[in-house]
Amino acid sequence: MVIDKNSIKGPWYTRFTSAVYTYHQVRGQAPVYVHNLHAKYGQHSSPERAAIKLSLRPIVRTTPHEADVSDPAAVQAIHRIKGEFLKSPWYDSLALGAPNVFNATDPNVHRRRRRLLSQPLSETGLRGLIPIIDGKIQKAIDRMASEMKDRGAADMYKWWLFMATDIIGALSFGDCFRMLDKGEKNQYVIDLESTGDTFMVRAAFPSLTGWIRKVPVPLKTANEVECRTMNYAHESLQWHRRLVEESPETTVPTLFSKFYNDNTITAREMAVDAQAYIIGGSDTLSKTLTYLVWAVCRNPSVKEKLVREIQQRLPLASQQRSGITDAQVRDLPYLAMVIEETLRLYPAVPSALPRVVPPEAPELCGRRLPAGATVTTSAYCLHRDPTAFPDPERFIPERWQNPTKRMKDAFMAFGGGSRVCLGMHLARLEIRLAAARFFHRFPDVEISNLEGMSDDDMEAQWYFVLTPKGKRCLIQQARA
Ligand code: HEM
Repeated sequence: MVIDKNSIKGPWYTRFTSAVYTYHQVRGQAPVYVHNLHAKYGQHSSPERAAIKLSLRPIVRTTPHEADVSDPAAVQAIHRIKGEFLKSPWYDSLALGAPNVFNATDPNVHRRRRRLLSQPLSETGLRGLIPIIDGKIQKAIDRMASEMKDRGAADMYKWWLFMATDIIGALSFGDCFRMLDKGEKNQYVIDLESTGDTFMVRAAFPSLTGWIRKVPVPLKTANEVECRTMNYAHESLQWHRRLVEESPETTVPTLFSKFYNDNTITAREMAVDAQAYIIGGSDTLSKTLTYLVWAVCRNPSVKEKLVREIQQRLPLASQQRSGITDAQVRDLPYLAMVIEETLRLYPAVPSALPRVVPPEAPELCGRRLPAGATVTTSAYCLHRDPTAFPDPERFIPERWQNPTKRMKDAFMAFGGGSRVCLGMHLARLEIRLAAARFFHRFPDVEISNLEGMSDDDMEAQWYFVLTPKGKRCLIQQARA
C-alpha cells in the first residue's frame, strides 16, 4: 500500500524505491539513516525542542510503502497489548518451514505458543532456575580469570556468548552445549555470531527467501547458517528426549515442559521454537553484557561508583562464591541504572520492528496511514530522542534516577505489547547477576589494547541484532 507523498515527509526517492533503505540495511546503518531522516525533517515546534537544537520529526517515509514513527506516544499506540498492528509479512520471510513464536504473524498461532511458553519464563517461573543460571555465570567468570592470567586479557564477547548459550541450553534442553567447558569457538558459535548478518540478509531481501537455497551467492551462506541453527534445535530436543528416557527421575523441568505435555504441539513447532530460543536467548544477551562492561570501563567515574556500590553492599570479594544472591543484586540502585543505560544506548535489537497498519487505524502523529502500509518503530531512534534523553549519545546512568514518563514511553529495548520479549525477565536476571559478579571479582579491570584491540572493534553495526564490528572485546586487569 503506497504512502501518499503529501501526507508523510521523506526524501523524494522514497516515493519510488526502497533501494536506499536496503543499501543502509546491508551496511548495518539503517537505524542511523532513519534517525537522520527524523532529524532532517524535524521542526523546532516548541521552545524546548528549539533549545536542544535537534528535534525529530515524529513520522517519516522510508520507502514507498513504509513509514517510521519515533514519537513515544504513537509508538505506544502501535505496540498496545491488545493492539491490531500485527507483525508484517517481513517476519514470514524469517520462518524456516513453520512460524515460531517470534516470527508468527497470525495472532492465533502466536497466542497458542506464547500461552504455553510464558509461565516458565515469568519471574516466578525462573525463581527455581537461579542456581543453574548463577552456576554458569560463575563458571564464565572463572574462565575469564584464567584467560586474563594466561593471555593477558579476556574476550568478553566470547565468554558472554558461551555463557548465554550454555544457560539457554541448560534451561531448555538440559546441559547440552557446554561451550564454557569447550572454551573454543566451533561452527555452532560461528553460526550464532553471524545471526545478526543473517537477519540483515533476510531483512534486506525478503522476497528472495524462497529461492536463495539454490544460488551460489552470499545469500546462500545466510541460508546455510539458518539451516544449521535449525539442526542444532533438532539435536538439542533429541538430547533432552534421551535424558528423560535414560533417567526420568533426575531430569528437571525445562522451559519447554508445557510443550512436551501438550499433544497438540507438533515436533516441527517445537523445533522452530527451540531455534528461536537458541538464537534469541544468546546473541542479544551476550552483546548487552559486552557493551555494558566496555561502557563502564570507558567511564572511570561510572566504574568507580558501581564498584563502590558492589563492594559496600555485597559480601567481601574473599567470599566470592557464597553469599551473593539475586535478591541482593536486584537491590543495587546504581547497577540498575547502569543496566538501563546500556540497554538504551546499545539496544541489542536496535532495528525497525515492522507492523501492518490495520483498517480503521487510529491517526499516528496527526497523520492517517493507509491500511496495509507498513509502520516501523526502532529502539535506536527512540532511545536517541533528545527530548526524552538529553545528550543522547553519552553514557549517563544517573539519568535513570527519576525517569520521566517520556523516558519510560520511549524505552523499547524489549519491544512492546503482546509481542514484548518473552525472555525479558531471564535477560534481566542474567544481566544483573553477571554484571554484579563480574565487577565484584574484577574491580580493577580496564579495556585492553592487546593484539591491536581498539574502540574500532566496538564500533556498532546496527543490524537486526547489534554487532560490534571487531566481534571481540578484550578486557584486562589494570596495570599497577
Ligand atoms: C538483552 C537481551 C534481549 C533483548 C534486548 C531482547 C529483545 C527483544 C525484542 C526487541 C523483541 C521483539 C522483537 C519484535 O517485535 O520483532 C524480542 C522478542 C523475543 N525475545 Fe528477546 N531479547 C533479549 C533476550 C531474550 C532471551 C534471553 C530470550 C530467551 C528465551 C528471548 C526470547 C525472545 C522471544 C521468544 C521473542 C518473541 C516474543 C513474541 O513475539 O511473542 N529474548 N526480544
